[in-house]
Amino acid sequence: MNAVDIITKTKRKERLTKKEIDWLINGYVEGTIPDYQMSAWLMAVCFNPLSDTETLMLTEIMRDSGDKLDLSSIEGVTVDKHSTGGIGDKTSLIIAPICAVCGLKVPKMSGRGLGFTGGTIDKLESIDGFKVNVEFKDYVDIINKNGAAIIAQSGHLVPADKKLYALRDVTGTVDSIPLICSSIMSKKLATGADCLLLDVKCGTGAFMKNQDDARQLAELMVQVGKKADKLTRAMITDMNQPLGNAVGNALEVIEACNILSGKQKDRLYDLCIQLAANMLELGGKGSYEKCRRAAIEAVDSGKALQKLADIVEAQGGKKEMILDTSLFPTPVYSREVKTNCGGYICGINSEEIGMAALMTGAGRKSKEDTIDSSAGIILQKHVGDKIHSGDTIMTLYSSTVKDLTAAAERAAKAVELSAEIPNVRSVVLEVVQ
Ligand code: URA
Repeated sequence: MNAVDIITKTKRKERLTKKEIDWLINGYVEGTIPDYQMSAWLMAVCFNPLSDTETLMLTEIMRDSGDKLDLSSIEGVTVDKHSTGGIGDKTSLIIAPICAVCGLKVPKMSGRGLGFTGGTIDKLESIDGFKVNVEFKDYVDIINKNGAAIIAQSGHLVPADKKLYALRDVTGTVDSIPLICSSIMSKKLATGADCLLLDVKCGTGAFMKNQDDARQLAELMVQVGKKADKLTRAMITDMNQPLGNAVGNALEVIEACNILSGKQKDRLYDLCIQLAANMLELGGKGSYEKCRRAAIEAVDSGKALQKLADIVEAQGGKKEMILDTSLFPTPVYSREVKTNCGGYICGINSEEIGMAALMTGAGRKSKEDTIDSSAGIILQKHVGDKIHSGDTIMTLYSSTVKDLTAAAERAAKAVELSAEIPNVRSVVLEVVQ
């Protein structure tokens, strides 16, 4: 076999065999296929997408490129959730404890943020003492005892994706539906849960800008999951404005606590209840309606907030910060963004808000950057709100960037106003199963 023949076949829309994909991917991981040939193949895939069968083969070959977790020592049904990435997406911190209270086991391996997107692991590290690197045996013990654990991906899981994703990032080949599907699903199949709920984000600030593409990705991932014997469902959810009020690490943990304590019942709360209900239904906890009521009760009873505190304590974190969020450090600097005209907010570009949050110190431009846990943005207004001249739309915070002028200007430009009452999209656009 040779790489030029494989690249040429994809370029001519001819189908690859499992042997060819296997040879290409494993050769790349081992270093016998150079970056320039793999880049050429990835670009060919962007123009001539892989068939569903080729995508399944690629996913399984990537999954098998490293270790696979065996979660069979976890008692009960395990359900994982994966989001394709959004701005202000702190749903894992909310639904893991809700589902644990309702009797599911939630093994969660999450990532760090890069560029305008945040990462669950960075958010959790804003809690004093919280350990994200946990031995596999302890991970299983924490899940058996508390129902959930959220840790950083470790060890030798899917090395093919690590290498391929880094190459896609610098060759303009990230936004291909079969490549995104195989990247996400190979990791999800290797981390072993029985059931998987996918949250496919759609809108500005998401990989999938329109609903047709989001649906195509969701359907492909669900198909691949089912063929690999995992009970899989996807929800397509709105990312045409940031999710909730907070963007930034500690700010998002505080908001997660506000949702779990029942203080905040808004779009973010609605999404979390629907995500949790879908996970519970997938995990065999009864009808959707029964699962929805159980998720609401987990919040209203105070048990879900206490559960998050227990999970934090089990992972070495200071649980008091969850039960009393005033213990999080207060950011040193702040700056309000006000409007100088009235009307209705008809759009808030999530990607631009993510970029403005990055400028406050809340994110990383490159993998080596350190982040300011206290930094970020609180949105006081959302799409559909009526505003008057002089109203504060959002407030920027930082402990490392004293002059927040440039970040505030970028954030202000993300807000679109209209004279008419706009249509506000539902937070859940579709369920694919
Ligand atoms: N997230 C991933 O893990 N992989 C992709 O390709 C895109 C988003």
